[in-house]
Amino acid sequence: MSELVRWSKQGDVAVVTIDNPPVNAIGPGVPEGMETAIHAAEADPQVRAIVVMGAGATFIAGADIREFGKIVSGERPPLSLLPFLLAIEDCEKPVVMAIHGQALGGGLETAMAGHYRVMTANAQVGQPEVKLGLIPGAGGTQRLPRLAGVMKALEMCAAGEPVNAQAAFSAGIVDRIIDGDLLEESVAFAREVINKPVRKTRERNGKLAGAFPAMFSMAREQARKKGREMKAPLAAIDAVEAATQLPFEEGCKREAELFTQCLHSTESKALIHIFFSERAVGKIPGLPKDVKPAEIRRAAVIGAGTMGGGIAMTYANAGIPVIVKETAQEALDHGMAIIRNNYAKTVSKGRLTQAVMDQRMSLIAPQLTYEGFEQADIITEAVFEKMSVKKQVFAELDKIAKPGAILASNTSTLDIDEIASATNRPDMVIGTHFFSPANVMKLLEVVRGKASGNETIASAMALGKKLKKVAVLARNAHGFIGNRMVEPYLREAYFLVEEGATVEQVNQALYDFGMPMGPLAMDDLAGIDIGYHIRQEASRFQKAGVRQPLVADKLFERGRYGQKAGRGWSKYDENRTPSADEETAELIEQTAREAGIERRPVSTEEITERCIYALINEGAKVLAEGIALRAADIDIVYIYGYGFPAWRGGPMFYADTVGLKKVLSRIEEFEARHGAELWSPAPLLRELAAAGETFEAYDKRQERTKA
Ligand code: 3HC
Ligand code: NAI
Repeated sequence: MSELVRWSKQGDVAVVTIDNPPVNAIGPGVPEGMETAIHAAEADPQVRAIVVMGAGATFIAGADIREFGKIVSGERPPLSLLPFLLAIEDCEKPVVMAIHGQALGGGLETAMAGHYRVMTANAQVGQPEVKLGLIPGAGGTQRLPRLAGVMKALEMCAAGEPVNAQAAFSAGIVDRIIDGDLLEESVAFAREVINKPVRKTRERNGKLAGAFPAMFSMAREQARKKGREMKAPLAAIDAVEAATQLPFEEGCKREAELFTQCLHSTESKALIHIFFSERAVGKIPGLPKDVKPAEIRRAAVIGAGTMGGGIAMTYANAGIPVIVKETAQEALDHGMAIIRNNYAKTVSKGRLTQAVMDQRMSLIAPQLTYEGFEQADIITEAVFEKMSVKKQVFAELDKIAKPGAILASNTSTLDIDEIASATNRPDMVIGTHFFSPANVMKLLEVVRGKASGNETIASAMALGKKLKKVAVLARNAHGFIGNRMVEPYLREAYFLVEEGATVEQVNQALYDFGMPMGPLAMDDLAGIDIGYHIRQEASRFQKAGVRQPLVADKLFERGRYGQKAGRGWSKYDENRTPSADEETAELIEQTAREAGIERRPVSTEEITERCIYALINEGAKVLAEGIALRAADIDIVYIYGYGFPAWRGGPMFYADTVGLKKVLSRIEEFEARHGAELWSPAPLLRELAAAGETFEAYDKRQERTKA
């Protein structure tokens, strides 16, 4: 018997258990083990029904994702689960799949090959392959529409979101929801179906008749809108459509062709890179394994502005009671009204119940004093981005916070060490940089100062998980990872309009690249005043004689603060819909004329390359300086903090796919045209390009060195 799959008997019911920690992924040996166990149980005259379940926390989380790269490189033969699943489906004794935790991807495909399915109330099932740039590859697109109907199958295969037990039961994916002990109740269920005929999913064609062409065109339209350039959702729709047009075996062949195309796509490589990077960012080399993160039971936030309010909501959403302190009643009331309004909008959209909103509001305590701060396990400061104000706040916190409390700053650019110097406990000070809106954006950039203690670092990283964020560790340096890199990205957007591109052209080029909005639209959203103040604070680092953007400051001087002012780079109507603004266009032309900047037509290609390559070049510097631990960490920061398209894998992975030699040669051209101060290629980029290497290979090399 395979070590990965074992079976035993509970009287007349065989129990086959898949035991491949941590998530019972279907790696080499698992399908073979399942087939052997099922055949053995089938051959045992005492056995009258078979239950299949997973050991540990979950049923089966899908095919082993680590295998895909090996298949693409030819190291492993193509995945072929279909025959194993047919063997299960053809078993003459009823097979009951008992699901707990997750049945995802190949996990749900395995479950659907059984004759019956039961599921615990808190389990989930889904076909998330599109999130890896793939489609179900083991009959999922053929069996799911037969069980759940074509509409539900389209939804699940094209969007990739899992469904809960109630939804799975209503759709007909599972036959019973189990409230008690899974093993006991699934064995009892198996006994109930012993004398019933085995039901092969592949032969249940009734629900396929409900399909009509508009379903597929609607699904394609939605997939294009949501996934932009992504190919996998469209391939998933094609495969489900094939289920309605072809017999099962032919449909599976079509699915296999589409699966193989997806597997070899850059989109899939990029998304698989993101899957593993998201899990790698939490691993901090050098942090002793026995360091225990502090338990965060109570929090406090200083400042109820844009960020303070969002951070308070994030704590409340995680069930952590939080005090919010302001300096004036008006600011406090305003901040609380925005929080209430944000929750109310979610309630009106049906995504939150009124009771849950009330419960979350009750966890947020607004006040003007430091009362209760002595009980907080973490205090997050979100006051104005001014060093003097931050230092004053931290000096006050040092006096009132309990020993062991974490003192966190939400600064977006300032020096954590200088902030920590205002306290007598710099080891407890750390940056926790949330992204706006803090209650929505998934990224948490944790910034370690020189003195930040190991426990403080571990606690801030664990806090990220508790708040359902992805925490990435950065070293203290101006702008850390994300904002340090966004500066040259924005700088190029500013320069491009001064050189002749229109605001709309710049925004459209980056939108078409896959960003959620163009850089100047992002600037208008964040606030032209915010950027202005950051430039003012950073002006002490500027070298004389280096070209500086001119128009952005002029927008500030004219009160064109962006969306909130109704005008910035663009003008905005009452619904915040942007349109081109003559006044900005004139201001740009006049400024360029006065500064002697030659105006010329600028191509979309130049816009995209200058903005994205500036990001990559700075990323390579951030990496070499050790501000980011890995290139993959930078990719995660950009995907979850700035909306960089995940299907391009993040800026550093994208550079790998373009080819570092090509990226370098364009950067050298920009250097020749715009000067070395702005465009000198990062030495690491030069080094990797010369060696024919990639950032991904660099990460692996670094990991081996550190191990
Ligand atoms: N293959 C290989 N490793 C996997 C895996 C998989 N399918 N799913 C999870 N893992 C690994 C993770 O990389 C992680 O490893 P690490 O500890 O070394 O970092 C470990 O299992 C635990 O995973 P998480 O940290 O994500 O644990 P959570 O408890 O937070 O989440 C989960 C569990 C919801 C199952 C989540 O891991 C998940 O969503 N997994 C991926 C599911 C998926 O995409 N399945 C489809 C695969 S493709 C497929 O099946 C193709 C088929 O159609 C042929
Ligand atoms: P904001 O101006 O909206 O809010 C700041 C709030 O702090 C104001 O309501 C102010 O009254 C209050 N405040 C000032 N001094 C205080 C004190 N001593 N005690 C209590 N409250 C005080 O500013 P915003 O945008 O929320 O920014 C806060 C911090 O977050 C800044 O450091 C900023 O750089 C950073 N940040 C901002 C992001 C954004 O997109 N707005 C994104 C990420 C970080």
